[in-house]
Amino acid sequence: MERRDFFRLGLATGVGAIALAKDGRALEYYPVESDKKCAVIFGTWCGSSRDAAIWISEGMGGIADVFDARENPDPAPFDHIVIGGSIRSGVTPSELQGYITKNKTSLKTKIRGLFAVCGNGERPVGPQQKTAYIDNHLARLCENGNVPSKVFNGRITKALLDPQTRKRMEDSYPSIAGKPLENYDLLKRADCLAFGEEVLASIQA
Ligand SMILES: Cc1cc2nc3c(=O)[nH]c(=O)nc-3n(C[C@H](O)[C@H](O)[C@H](O)COP(=O)(O)O)c2cc1C
Repeated sequence: MERRDFFRLGLATGVGAIALAKDGRALEYYPVESDKKCAVIFGTWCGSSRDAAIWISEGMGGIADVFDARENPDPAPFDHIVIGGSIRSGVTPSELQGYITKNKTSLKTKIRGLFAVCGNGERPVGPQQKTAYIDNHLARLCENGNVPSKVFNGRITKALLDPQTRKRMEDSYPSIAGKPLENYDLLKRADCLAFGEEVLASIQA
């Protein structure tokens, strides 16, 4: 398969996400050819789940297409799908939830991994977040929880929040985290790569 230039497709600029949605093109970047047809599908507001999805794909050896759920990718061509998204007020973006619900029948037997990206007041995530965001949310939506899963700590870039959301976060954050809201970045590429490797191993098993 022809190697596509990730930057040419423009996702790295953020602006490209809109163009991609219009064109219906996926983020295709294949360092390694494979007979496995894999996709990672994400829902995000400010991009942390987009980056997690790309790094999970890299952990899978770069064999997975990466889609924003807003691109409405057809699950039919894929055999193995990882799906996940960022958390606001305890749930993933409505666009991701709607996409899963709409495609549930097709997705159900193809889900090979679930992930979520959350803030957790900058505290390390644990079993509580797995229960809340994987077991009680994504696994229920997908009607398939018997797959590798991971909750990642995410990030906040205040400049990317719309003014109302930013004010709401700045007002409530001290009671959540015990300190004022500042930019933070706790999403670790190594953790996403490791999860991608775990998913790949489960597909190959
Ligand atoms: C308005 C808002 C609500 C949030 N709600 C939660 C939440 O309920 N639980 C949580 O752990 N993190 C919460 N977070 C933190 C985000 O999950 C975290 O910053 C994530 O990395 C953002 O993903 P994004 O880059 O796709 O926007 C919230 C963040 C914002 C801005």
